[in-house]
Amino acid sequence: MLLVRRLSTKALGQVRVLGIETSCDDTAAAVVTGDGRVVSETNRHQHSVHASYGGIVPGLAAAHHQANLPLVLRETLQQAGLSISDVDAVAVTRGPGMAASLGVGVAAAKALAAVHGLPLIGVHHMEAHALMARMGREDVVQFPFLCVLVSGGHTMTLVAHDVSSYTTIGSTRDDSVGEAFDKVARDLGLPWPDMQEGGGLGPALEQIAMRGDALRFPLPVPMDKSTSAVSPDFSFSGLKTHVRRMLESGAFDPRIPQDQADVAAAFQRAAVAHLRKKTALACRHARAMGVNITCVVASGGVASNAAVRQALADVAAKEGVPLECPPPRLCTDNGVMIAWAGVERLRRGLLDSYSFDFIQRWPLDHLKETPLNCP
Ligand code: KG4
Ligand code: ZN
Repeated sequence: MLLVRRLSTKALGQVRVLGIETSCDDTAAAVVTGDGRVVSETNRHQHSVHASYGGIVPGLAAAHHQANLPLVLRETLQQAGLSISDVDAVAVTRGPGMAASLGVGVAAAKALAAVHGLPLIGVHHMEAHALMARMGREDVVQFPFLCVLVSGGHTMTLVAHDVSSYTTIGSTRDDSVGEAFDKVARDLGLPWPDMQEGGGLGPALEQIAMRGDALRFPLPVPMDKSTSAVSPDFSFSGLKTHVRRMLESGAFDPRIPQDQADVAAAFQRAAVAHLRKKTALACRHARAMGVNITCVVASGGVASNAAVRQALADVAAKEGVPLECPPPRLCTDNGVMIAWAGVERLRRGLLDSYSFDFIQRWPLDHLKETPLNCP
């Protein structure tokens, strides 16, 4: 077949994959090589668009992807000094995410790949977060590993057995940890750190927490009661609501910088303690499943938080394995992770047809059963 012949003439380490991400509010693209080198990357955030609405507005997000994606693609290729015919495959986020936003990226990727006769790879956004730590380090970050995915959309622990093969251990029963960081930061009146930077309000909360006394407003660690303490699931809405109630009762004043810092520190301390306990439980579950993990991988926006990294490094050390995280800038949504997941799938021949559609809700455990319809 034409596509396979074209690739087989090139060493897999040298292939160049163009990755496209439009599942949420980042319009991102990157070119990555098979040996894990980032040739170029571009990311346009939409924070200034959605900030005044207090959340992402799906229609606006899709409209901005429509406006931005052509320029993001052009910039990514120009930066790399490449034309589309120098690229060996196109990878795109197929799901999960907001339907209209996913549709923009998928339509563009299908058109580019079909017109130029390139292999097309539909990528699961959470698999891309999970595989990011392996980029260029596949000999270090080997399967199976325990993965802690902590972002604005997800909070879960899972065993990564191989590409496409995951078993979820625990997931959030309500809010994601990133959502809780964002909502508490809003209640504290924290401003967006920089409209050009990705990552939401979490980094602002992390920064201010450094100056705070976490013990002045002690907050309960979620799910610490005996019945829920044994569950590997997470819960963050109670913690978030606790801060809201304190605000409403006047227990602290968000206009006073020291109050802001102390509540931020107390929230972060309780959230991190919760992540620590549930990750330790997940390691125990993996062992009970007979899985010998080689490392703990943490990814997703919240994994760029230094206190979170330290706590998870402690858990991993107790398990006798290292913690492996992508660099902070590649923990949040980006095009590099989609291109790299594309490389991993391309190596295994996991290609998709030019007629595939996006999948809005898509549990990672179902990835193996998702039909590929190879070209
Ligand atoms: O992975 P991501 O960029 O997008 C999703 O897939 O959701 O994660 C964004 C989330 C936001 O909720 C943001 O506030 C949080 O990650 N986040 C952080 C930090 N950096 C980003 N939370 C705490 N501390 C940080 N340093
Ligand atoms: Zn993400």
